[in-house]
Amino acid sequence: MVILETDRLLLRHLVLDDLNELFVLYRDPEIRKYFPEGVLNLEETKEELEWHMNGHPRYPELGLWATIHKKTGRFIGRCGLLPWEIDDRLEVEIAYLLDESFWHQGLATEAVQGILKYGFEKLNLSRLICLIDPENIASQRVAEWIGMTLERKVDGIAGDNFPTLIYSINRK
Ligand SMILES: CC(C)(COP(=O)(O)OP(=O)(O)OC[C@H]1O[C@@H](n2cnc3c(N)ncnc32)[C@H](O)[C@@H]1OP(=O)(O)O)[C@@H](O)C(=O)NCCC(=O)NCCS
Repeated sequence: MVILETDRLLLRHLVLDDLNELFVLYRDPEIRKYFPEGVLNLEETKEELEWHMNGHPRYPELGLWATIHKKTGRFIGRCGLLPWEIDDRLEVEIAYLLDESFWHQGLATEAVQGILKYGFEKLNLSRLICLIDPENIASQRVAEWIGMTLERKVDGIAGDNFPTLIYSINRK
């Protein structure tokens, strides 16, 4: 199912056929550099993919979505919306991860702009956040580009011990 389209990208539900292409990204230490879990093996990738195939199991309107480069038809990553409980508050994070050979073309910013619009206009969410490693400058730029501001730094999220920046934006 197609979730949304931008000029250059199409975001749709993940399907089992995406597994190998997703695994190529998830096993890459450069792409997974700022993820607390690091690289994933094939089994872990499959588990995550299956978890998101019909949207997030608890919040089916959210989830990680296959990100397709329209011009080439290639699967170039997964982006989406993820639910978190942070300080007793339900938050929705914009998540993004792209194939390194497609970096530096403004594609993440384009995907995230599309997701922001979708979250505010279609899902009627009132606030969106990004959770970012303080050393992940590229990701901070993407969050800033779409109008998010740095709200605070926390020592960890959901029980982990990884310092994390919380960026946020409210619906106007
Ligand atoms: C973060 C990520 C999605 C950015 O993708 P991208 O398509 O290259 O981003 P864009 O082309 O839209 O660039 C957005 C901004 O980030 C900047 N940027 C991109 N890569 C950068 C880098 N390695 N270092 C510093 N700035 C960088 C760009 O220059 C641009 O800012 P500018 O217009 O002010 O110059 C990509 O690097 C990625 O997939 N990383 C691995 C997964 C990840 O860390 N995801 C985020 C988890 S919170």
